[in-house]
Amino acid sequence: MALPFTAPWLLAPMEGVTEPCFRDLVLERNAPEHLGGAFTEFVRVVDHPMSVKVLRKHLGARRFAQPVGVQLMGADLAALEATAANAVAAGAPLVDLNFGCPAKGALRGCAGSAALRDPGQIERSVQAARRGVAGAVPVTAKLRAGYDHAGDVEVLVRAAEAGGAELVTLHCRTRAEHYDPEVDWSRIARAVAAVGVPVCGNGGVDAHADLERLRRESGCAYVMVGRAALGDPWVFSGRAVPPAEAARFLLEYMDRLAETGTTSRGGAAGRVKQLLRTWSAGGLVDGERAAWLGEPEAEGLRGRLEAVAAAQSRAEP
Ligand SMILES: Cc1cc2nc3c(=O)[nH]c(=O)nc-3n(C[C@H](O)[C@H](O)[C@H](O)COP(=O)(O)O)c2cc1C
Repeated sequence: MALPFTAPWLLAPMEGVTEPCFRDLVLERNAPEHLGGAFTEFVRVVDHPMSVKVLRKHLGARRFAQPVGVQLMGADLAALEATAANAVAAGAPLVDLNFGCPAKGALRGCAGSAALRDPGQIERSVQAARRGVAGAVPVTAKLRAGYDHAGDVEVLVRAAEAGGAELVTLHCRTRAEHYDPEVDWSRIARAVAAVGVPVCGNGGVDAHADLERLRRESGCAYVMVGRAALGDPWVFSGRAVPPAEAARFLLEYMDRLAETGTTSRGGAAGRVKQLLRTWSAGGLVDGERAAWLGEPEAEGLRGRLEAVAAAQSRAEP
């Protein structure tokens, strides 16, 4: 089945970040020829299927040219199968399975990166999701390069392919490497050589130029970007935005978080402050403006952002 992505660059699933408010803003700001698709945060599936209603909430109300895949994480095969079926009913264009989450909670449930110690579990999980979607949408898998070593990359990606994954994303760090700044893209090249299905390379893309470089150096077909998109949501197109545009993104993000009830107004400001810690777009957080991070009040932060947005608007013809 053809993959629905509109371009080779994809926004990574990120828990606590790629809920509909942030994700939709990134999708709106990058044309389909620059950003090919995105994913929900992982939806944890424990011992009973997640409902169509819950999955719809993760997908959000807005639709884009680019697909937003539902990502599931769980080890109970029957629950995974039924949830994958519900994802199709909820309108998901793709179901992705998480075999990378390093959190202890995931490990206790034998989900996420726990499956990296049991390739058979990866294969069975993908098979279960395939049964659930019954040919309606593709099933993909996202893996880390290993649990505590990267010697079995080939075994792991082949297990996903054997289960029927139509794309394998390899986050090139092992679970033990967590989010180390150093990455080894040759592991992605090994995955590409090991399977016949397309591989999506992930890990250590810091800037727009890295997208093409990772593809060239590893031979992967797609590249997924996580944290770099949190600092610069325009990383997919490579457009250098003026300060006002960056400020407007953050203002809109705050508004949507509060309006949708995702967070309180204070919580929305907290999320934006969190983003500002690594934010690079529009040169907002340079020397003097780094003072924003210390802004104690939600309204104070909003005022600063509005001033930047307005200053630029006045300068526009
Ligand atoms: C805050 C945060 C939340 C994440 N949540 C998820 C998740 O829900 N599902 C998943 O597969 N990976 C998750 N990841 C991993 C990312 O998708 C990605 O694989 C990782 O950040 C490496 O890519 P990067 O170096 O471009 O950031 C998360 C990463 C971060 C930083």
